[in-house]
Amino acid sequence: MYSEEELTHRLTTQVFGRTVFVYDSIDSTNTYAKDFAAKGAGEGTVVIADHQTAGRGRFGRIWQAESGLNLLFSLIIRPTLSMNKIGLLPFFAAVGIALTIENVAGIKCECKWPNDILCQGKKCCGILMESAVQKGKLDYAIVGIGLNVNQRNFIDGLNNRATSLSNECGKEFDRKELFCQIMSSLELLYQQVSKGDFTNVIREWKARTTIFGKGIKLTIADDVIQGVVLGLASDGGLVVETKSRQRVFYAGDVTLINEI
Ligand code: BTN
Repeated sequence: MYSEEELTHRLTTQVFGRTVFVYDSIDSTNTYAKDFAAKGAGEGTVVIADHQTAGRGRFGRIWQAESGLNLLFSLIIRPTLSMNKIGLLPFFAAVGIALTIENVAGIKCECKWPNDILCQGKKCCGILMESAVQKGKLDYAIVGIGLNVNQRNFIDGLNNRATSLSNECGKEFDRKELFCQIMSSLELLYQQVSKGDFTNVIREWKARTTIFGKGIKLTIADDVIQGVVLGLASDGGLVVETKSRQRVFYAGDVTLINEI
């Protein structure tokens, strides 16, 4: 479906996506990108595939996507950031994608903590950020993005929770064009983010979240915590007022209490 030449020809970026490894089918673009990064691949390198045989989601879940219909790619970044800002990187990716979807598809996105994007309450994009630290410093981060583009049907059990741009808009999207737009949007935001300035990203993310001030259930493995969301900590943690005390969480699945 994609060819390297075609993608790079359409890009308007300086760095992001300029080196791109294109595959028909691989296990996981994140796994490949990690391998390339560990061997020294430069910032902005992208691994993209039409199909993944072992696409990975958060908490070791499987990321399922029909072959040839969606965007499945991983971007390598190497920002020089203090460790307390690394947890903010997923917000950069989420905002970059949300802005692109809003521009290209004309639909409003919701950012769901920590790094999902929803359209009309259903998930259309998941982000898997994986990082490598060396001598107390970030060596590289892999931004893995699974965006449901032209897939119309989802497996049983997911239909109520997953959607695609094409389901939301009733038309098909050019995946190459969408990919190039995402690269541009991410590169633009990255100019601030790579300098440690997340002000813009966090403002845009907060403008698209719906959980502040609301009662939530947070599921972390077998643990379920209930509370009211007070806000976002400066390092990206979710600040929750629980029955006993105020706590900050860094992972988990959030459900609004009135949605349970
Ligand atoms: C999640 O919502 O749990 C994150 C899903 C991330 C899926 C993408 S698809 C491209 C990249 N390669 C992977 O194996 N995972 C990410």
